[in-house]
Amino acid sequence: MTEILSHIDAGVMTLTFNRVDKKNSLTAAMYTALADAVTQAERNPEVRVLVFQGHETVFCAGNDIADFLNNPPSTPDAPVFRLLRSMAAFPKPVLAAVAGPAVGIGTTLLFHCDLVYAGDNAAFAMPFVNLGVCPEAASSLLAPQMMGYHRAAEALLLGEPFMAEAALEIGLVNRVLPPTEVNSYVQVQARKLAAKPLSSLLETKRLMKAGQAALVQQQMNEEAASFGRMLTEPAAKEAFGAFMEKRKPDFSKL
Ligand code: COA
Repeated sequence: MTEILSHIDAGVMTLTFNRVDKKNSLTAAMYTALADAVTQAERNPEVRVLVFQGHETVFCAGNDIADFLNNPPSTPDAPVFRLLRSMAAFPKPVLAAVAGPAVGIGTTLLFHCDLVYAGDNAAFAMPFVNLGVCPEAASSLLAPQMMGYHRAAEALLLGEPFMAEAALEIGLVNRVLPPTEVNSYVQVQARKLAAKPLSSLLETKRLMKAGQAALVQQQMNEEAASFGRMLTEPAAKEAFGAFMEKRKPDFSKL
């Protein structure tokens, strides 16, 4: 599909979010394409490294809210959860090039990447509470671990965005670059990794993640059950309805 571009070059599979007019928000069909591509990346011996990138003006605005209303991810087999499970268990190195907004899964996906490079225009946000739902991608576990509890609470309870420099400070990104240079810099880093012995990369990543791999999957399952339920409840209905009607949500009675 053209909204998710995939190509393999020099051992690097690059997946590009390509729906800029809708700020690279992700539909169920795009999640399916991404999940299939990630499975292929794991199985294909030609792929040694995986890269996610968007456009220099926008990485990903999270779930497509209209599509979400039509295709709510109500079961663990929903494409979004399939993608997240496979990302959490993905054995090869994963890099992300982030410029512009990275909202919802646009940020939480990064917890499952090994190296993240950001444009100085990158703006990260996890506004799940503002949408009447709860975190996904094990971000309720991984954000407090990475940022410390209070900064995670600011990001997850208040849903406040944070910029590239703050993301660098908390360790979510490795380096901040001009937005026009991020995608090409990530390709350079990916090629460096692709030239290294894959067996050592796989084992090193496995060892770094082994301590809490089961816990991450367990947290994602628990989040997915809550997320699916909360999507059908009044707070999410009000939040999503307000987004569609381009008005402020009213949670005063919820
Ligand atoms: N779902 C569906 N459509 C979305 C979208 C989303 N998550 N994010 C953006 N769009 C659409 C807008 O509705 C608009 O469509 P239109 O041109 O048909 O009106 C278009 O993309 C451009 O968005 P706009 O808001 O005008 O761009 P912006 O540059 O002012 O702001 C964002 C960019 C990403 C900050 C803003 O679009 C935003 O906050 N989006 C919602 C993010 C969100 O809550 N995601 C869900 C996380 S779970």
